Amino acid sequence: MKGIILAGGTGSRLHPLTMAMSKQLLPVYDKPMIYYPLSTLMLGGVREILVISTPTHLPLFRQVLGDGSELGLDLRYAEQPQPAGIADAFRIGARFLGADPVTLILGDNIFYGQGLSELLQTSMRDLIGCTLFSHTVRDPQRYGVAEFDAEGRLVDIEEKPARPKSSEAITGLYLYTNDVVEIARGLAPSARGELEITDVNRVYISEGRARLRSFGRGFAWLDAGTHDGLLNAAQFVQVLEHRQGVRIACLEEIALRMGFIDADSCYALGRKQQNSGYGQYVMTAAQAG
Ligand code: G1P
Repeated sequence: MKGIILAGGTGSRLHPLTMAMSKQLLPVYDKPMIYYPLSTLMLGGVREILVISTPTHLPLFRQVLGDGSELGLDLRYAEQPQPAGIADAFRIGARFLGADPVTLILGDNIFYGQGLSELLQTSMRDLIGCTLFSHTVRDPQRYGVAEFDAEGRLVDIEEKPARPKSSEAITGLYLYTNDVVEIARGLAPSARGELEITDVNRVYISEGRARLRSFGRGFAWLDAGTHDGLLNAAQFVQVLEHRQGVRIACLEEIALRMGFIDADSCYALGRKQQNSGYGQYVMTAAQAG
């Protein structure tokens, strides 16, 4: 299983914050936004990951994350010159993917909850076609929305419908078998000129090869793509981290716990950042083993 993080776009919903900075590098409390989706992939056991961003911002991601080797990862980078839609990621990433299945995650989606690692790993093992994840939201018209039949089966997804047929939003975390590359290549751009991920998902639904897993109420799915969403996400992380004394999406700690790096390497990574509470936390996590 390979991973793609899509971190492109103009971030126009966050202007003027994103006039000079990539949305996915803005701070979500104590770390850059991209740490969160990257940590989700790592929890799924994914180690070969392609980061896609604009030509202007890509060097910044390299500066923050490097080649990934310090975290036991293999990180690659690719440019998306124009915001051509989420499904464009599979065209850009075709060579990188080779014959492998892929987990795609959007760079502004934050997932938090017990059992995420197991859920992802089970979903990857059982993958036939595509697996999507949904969550109940108050404002489904902002998202791709699931439509169910009387038996509760997924029959369609509508992208940003004016009248949503359910309150289950499709989150920005998607698992696909390798044929997603062919499907993406065959897509026609939508009315807004983009290759829509919802159109990819509709192909799998029509072929009876789409599975939907709903995150329950105990799960948090945050979209940091608006001013309020960004602040809410930061506050959520701050509250949990303060209360529990743990850090969410601490890449070094996750790499250690997933067995990607050993405790000595983890400690050394913490030491490099020892002036910050984050670095000190990494050192403590390494010592706890
Ligand atoms: C995209 C997808 C949408 C999905 C959402 C999740 O929308 O098109 O189906 O529900 O991500 O964050 P966007 O945020 O690009 O408008």
